[in-house]
Amino acid sequence: MIAPHDLRRLGDEILARLPGARSTAEVDALEAEALGPGAPVTEARRGLRDASDEVRRELGRAVNEVTAAVTAAAGERRRSLAGAERADRLAEERLDMTLPGRVPARGTAHLLSTVWDEVVDIFVALGYTVATGPEVETAYYNFDALNTPPAHPSRLESDTFYIDHGSDPEGVLLRTQTSPVQVRFMEAHQPPIYVVVPGRVYRRDAIDATHTPVFHQLEGLAVDEAITFGDLKGTLEYFARAFFGSRRRVRFLPHFFPFTEPSAEMHVDCFACEGSGCRVCRQSGWIELLGCGVVDPNVFTAVGYDPSAVSGFAFGVGIDRLALIRYGIPELRVFFDPDVRILRQFP
Ligand code: DAH
Repeated sequence: MIAPHDLRRLGDEILARLPGARSTAEVDALEAEALGPGAPVTEARRGLRDASDEVRRELGRAVNEVTAAVTAAAGERRRSLAGAERADRLAEERLDMTLPGRVPARGTAHLLSTVWDEVVDIFVALGYTVATGPEVETAYYNFDALNTPPAHPSRLESDTFYIDHGSDPEGVLLRTQTSPVQVRFMEAHQPPIYVVVPGRVYRRDAIDATHTPVFHQLEGLAVDEAITFGDLKGTLEYFARAFFGSRRRVRFLPHFFPFTEPSAEMHVDCFACEGSGCRVCRQSGWIELLGCGVVDPNVFTAVGYDPSAVSGFAFGVGIDRLALIRYGIPELRVFFDPDVRILRQFP
């Protein structure tokens, strides 16, 4: 039978080692060294039954004291370990909610695209449909069918990008205007026609503030019975007001285009100075906006329409020009500059 003081010494030893336990598993093992199955305290408790009264009293007290002390100390150590383990885990999983988020880079539409869409929308709201055509075009569609004679200056090598294709050196080209789509559309459709054609066009212009070899136009074509110059004026005045503001006035000046007769240039009074003269309108009070006219009978004949049965008007407006004017941009080149600082100014 183990002596009470040996039990107490074992208990003291375990109490001394418990603070050094690094995990709850180590605490369990230390506790079991005294109180587990077959351990001295357990064995002593079992032996009490057969012991003398005097031994039972002394040993029983030691068993109870050691059991209580070790159980309490082990529990204490477990609790502090659990607290430390939790603190460790919290430190490890720490999340700094005050860090600024990462803002994803978002693109914006290019100003030209925005103006393109806006102009198209104005005409779509009037009932026009949208058509497109090829940028590599034949001289037939770009010039001949549009009543432009072979000697017309716009057909010069110095003005037009010709493409080396086939036997005729001037047979295929980069379209110089969106007007050829008028012809293509009329070939494929019967009146009534109300169509707009936004698109890219090309000319052999040297780059300067207002010229780039590629730019954008919106063509318009209305063909129906008894269309008059009055319809043209009403439609284009509506467009000028929708784009530049409801107070705008327009004027039409005689001009020449091969595919319209009569032809006109439409001006809008300056939105910046209300027509009194400023830098935007170069002191004239007016801004030249677009070309237009009544469709020439020769164009109808070219597409197989009867010029005595239908009439129509057409117009062509520079999309880049509209954007330059409205936003006061000094250089057409900025539209083709990949610098996002320019794009960011027009969100
Ligand atoms: N195509 C002409 C140009 O590029 C613009 C134009 C003028 C288009 C009169 C038309 C029109 O449809 O009727 O300068």
